[in-house]
Amino acid sequence: MADDTHPLLEGLGVERVSEPVAVVIFGASGDLTSRKLMPALHALMAGNQLSPATAVVGVGRSELSDDDFRERMRKAVEEAGPVDERAWQALAAGLRYVSGGYGDEDTYRRLEVVLDGLDERIGTSGNRLYYLSTPPRVFATVVHRLGQRGLHRPAGEGKFARVVIEKPFGRDLRSAVQLDEALHEVLDEEQIYRIDHYLGKETVQNVLALRFANSIFEPVWNRRYVDSVQITVAEASGVGHRAGFYEEAGALRDIVQNHALQVLALMAMEPPASMSPKGIRDEKVKALEAVDLLTPSEVATETVRGQYGPGWVAGEEVPGYLEEPDVDPSSHTETYVAMRLRIDNWRWAGVPFYLRTGKRLPKRATEVALGFKAVPHLPFAATQATELGPNALVLRIQPDEGITLRFGAKVPGQAFEVRSVSMDFSYGAAFIEAPAEAYERLLHDALLGDPTLFIRTDEVEQAWRIVQPLLDAWAEDPHPPAPYAAGTWGPARADELLAEDGRTWRRP
Ligand SMILES: NC(=O)c1ccc[n+]([C@@H]2O[C@H](COP(=O)([O-])OP(=O)(O)OC[C@H]3O[C@@H](n4cnc5c(N)ncnc54)[C@H](OP(=O)(O)O)[C@@H]3O)[C@@H](O)[C@H]2O)c1
Repeated sequence: MADDTHPLLEGLGVERVSEPVAVVIFGASGDLTSRKLMPALHALMAGNQLSPATAVVGVGRSELSDDDFRERMRKAVEEAGPVDERAWQALAAGLRYVSGGYGDEDTYRRLEVVLDGLDERIGTSGNRLYYLSTPPRVFATVVHRLGQRGLHRPAGEGKFARVVIEKPFGRDLRSAVQLDEALHEVLDEEQIYRIDHYLGKETVQNVLALRFANSIFEPVWNRRYVDSVQITVAEASGVGHRAGFYEEAGALRDIVQNHALQVLALMAMEPPASMSPKGIRDEKVKALEAVDLLTPSEVATETVRGQYGPGWVAGEEVPGYLEEPDVDPSSHTETYVAMRLRIDNWRWAGVPFYLRTGKRLPKRATEVALGFKAVPHLPFAATQATELGPNALVLRIQPDEGITLRFGAKVPGQAFEVRSVSMDFSYGAAFIEAPAEAYERLLHDALLGDPTLFIRTDEVEQAWRIVQPLLDAWAEDPHPPAPYAAGTWGPARADELLAEDGRTWRRP
């Protein structure tokens, strides 16, 4: 093809400027707003990707004046990196704060007055992006109140009112359905943008580029050549100051239900006809639908739940989960999950997908590895190939983003000996363009009305459908999770799970 852009990739990463808009952040006094949202808005403004007529309105119970809020946001931007004064001034002119309870009618009356004022003064022209950055239990209340006031309705032809929702989307299948019902009482699905920041990562999007812009990978991307797939989301950190949240969530809800299954869907999906939001999301849903649900007895044989004990990580002695501040000393919350899943369709029948995630593992690493089948016949003596492992294609999502291909090569010398070697592609070395921060990419997409990288309601439900049997079985299980020492790769049972199939976990 003469053009450089593959038709499937059109629109991805092309610089676009969003329309005038008021971004309303509920829970703006919180951590996410300071650490991610405001720095992302600043970076977008500095990159000329936002209309100069972009206002940011914080809403929250904390009593703050407009000036207090502006000062906080300035600090947040400074902490994130160098400040572009022109961009900051443009944003600062449209920064407002509305104090009030999320269920309080008067909050929304005053919010409406502020928004109308911004339309007049800044020219935000009736467009609204509501960002729900509060704890999830407040989501339904905010949306209900927006609906009562009519603030959820686009201000006219060609105008938009969208709502961005942060994960977690429910805490099980039932509550996820309930949350969606509450949202849909007020909003159309097209107005809802459910964020999983993993999908904002360049390397996650690169799974699509790798698979669908190249002709050399797709022919082997199936059961005929792939022996097994491993998805690893490893964290070296412990629960930190998030014990309150984590005790309620655990690794299954925190990572598997969203990030890990999103990565699995992108790996396993069929090629979409186009990169349209519908094209991609339809195929992801189909892949998730094809995941075989575990029965209660299979939860015991196909999954592993673990909890870290004391140990050493990166040369530092660290406490076990039960010794962490604010953790119930008899807690059964899992900090590690491993599972073997099957995808029942033509492409993947018989290929095990091994997923694992954990805290306090030896290093932070997210990767997807395809292990390939052995050649049908090895024309060498076994002694000539003792150091030959399976061919593997590894997509390193973070850190050290890149791709590694492992294959056999002849060891130089008189003897004919074959050994596995790696061919490496590294983003940092191949591109001078800095990757956009995930929140930058996703906020910009939400402002542009591109929902491709957001999670549709049926994706959320399919993901809960897959993890629900584990939640149910573990809730009934009186045994504590299997212990593992901090700084190791999880409980021994996780190694046995793969050993049963004659395989081993990769060491990222
Ligand atoms: N922080 C992250 O890195 C991160 C990552 C992924 C997802 N998320 C999700 O993003 C959302 C916001 O995260 P965050 O870390 O900014 O949350 P946060 O700091 O705990 O809360 C944000 C704001 O919500 C209000 N709030 C807190 N507890 C409340 C309660 N019980 N009832 C009503 N309002 C309450 C507070 O504002 P006022 O007191 O002023 O009302 C608080 O400043 C959450 O849904 C979280 O799960 C966060």
